Amino acid sequence: MKKQLEKILVIDDEAGMCSLINTVLSDEGYTVTATQKPQEGLALLKKDAFDLVITDLRMPKMDGMEILQAVKSVSPAMPVILITAYSTVDSAVQAMKLGASDYVAKPFKNAELCSAVDNVLEKSRLRAENARLRLELEEKYSFSNIVGNSARMREVFNYISRVAKAEVTAIIQGESGTGKELVARAIHFNGARRSGPFVAIHCGGLSETMLESELFGHVKGAFTDAIKDRKGLLETADGGTVFLDEVGDMPAPLQVKLLRFIQEREIRRLGSDATTSVDVHLIAATNKDLLAEVKAGRFRNDLYYRLAVVPIQMPPLRERMEDVPLLVRHFIQKYTGAAQKDAVTVSAEAMQAIMLYSWPGNVRELENIVQHAVAFLSGGKSITVEMLPQALSGAPARSASCAAADRSFREAKAQVVDSFEKAYIADLLKKTSGNITRASELAGMDRKNLQDLIKKHGLNAGDYSPTT
Ligand SMILES: Nc1ncnc2c1ncn2[C@@H]1O[C@H](COP(=O)(O)OP(=O)(O)OP(=O)(O)O)[C@@H](O)[C@H]1O
Ligand SMILES: [Mg+2]
Repeated sequence: MKKQLEKILVIDDEAGMCSLINTVLSDEGYTVTATQKPQEGLALLKKDAFDLVITDLRMPKMDGMEILQAVKSVSPAMPVILITAYSTVDSAVQAMKLGASDYVAKPFKNAELCSAVDNVLEKSRLRAENARLRLELEEKYSFSNIVGNSARMREVFNYISRVAKAEVTAIIQGESGTGKELVARAIHFNGARRSGPFVAIHCGGLSETMLESELFGHVKGAFTDAIKDRKGLLETADGGTVFLDEVGDMPAPLQVKLLRFIQEREIRRLGSDATTSVDVHLIAATNKDLLAEVKAGRFRNDLYYRLAVVPIQMPPLRERMEDVPLLVRHFIQKYTGAAQKDAVTVSAEAMQAIMLYSWPGNVRELENIVQHAVAFLSGGKSITVEMLPQALSGAPARSASCAAADRSFREAKAQVVDSFEKAYIADLLKKTSGNITRASELAGMDRKNLQDLIKKHGLNAGDYSPTT
């Protein structure tokens, strides 16, 4: 914030002191209002928005302590600096305990006053910034950020509130890109632990020892690379939420250790005998069918039931297509910014292509596609079918099968084959960056035939080469 915008209220019964402080701080660029009457000062405070109050500690009618208390009762976050004589420094210290931000002892050098004011305002600026960021974060992961109005999503919202309130262990299951992590964060930010840490751990892709050390920590020398003691993520998340992502990929020996942790809520660092209690809300997620994993003997039955106190099933996008237009709008807003959000439209043909697509990558895929289309807008206002990937605009299988019944079998089949060809070739060219030789090898197809198909579908290999 610019200094000019920061307003300081000065209350001092001595005219000389009042005008000195006024001059010094005005010279620094602050907007200063000075008064010799404490009551008038308090009245001004209720009328106008100040950023700081500077008051003399000792005044005949109402002293600085009373002013401090009156200010704090009107606006508890308002910083107050006291001006005090050396003889009253003790009471100034006392006043700090009651919430004054700082004091300046008379006689003071101008620079001393300025530095006290700068420091106090800097601190409250930071505090305001933190509060704003926290609000932003809470908003980001509040329900308002999870778009969906379908019955399936409303059910998910219901689960989020209940799990957040009761702090019960939950497992979120669903295909990739359905919003599992988003839901986990919403649970955290809607519960009593919202100001505590949210720690996400990916349980797949790490060796057993590394994952154990990530989760539980280790002591120096526990394994070859353990060169010093290290806190595990469960300990780091104490007081907050731990999100065990891809829990279905957890190696069997660690499943036992996780189960023990859930039962005892204690961790033991790798290589150590000492145990520490840890208080975390556990939320797990997986894109596997965990019960099937249990049946196949790859996931412990007892751990499954410990995790699945509340099972939350994320619906794939294709089962809640009524949410698609809402999501499209949401992502347009996200990628164009608030100013433009209403100006951008989606052509009917493009929306139809979006609605007919089967969305194997779910919301993540939809988000990418909208982001991509928005980047293509370049001045234009409407997202058209040309801005969508070939896989969508090339009439995918879902659309063909949906529309098949009102045509002859031969016609319907021809259309499915046609759209399949186009989507396949487009994908192939994308994968090979338009290299026809590689594309024909990959497809197990004669080069000439591939070229004919590219031509038939109006595609152009050059469009996919990295240089264009
Ligand atoms: N209902 C929704 N509303 C708005 N955005 C969503 C929604 N669901 C998912 N997203 C967005 O889609 C992307 C993928 O979501 P997220 O990472 O939560 O999915 P996931 O299920 O954890 O996927 P994966 O299994 O691949 O890890 C994120 O950018 C997320 O913000
Ligand atoms: Mg995820």
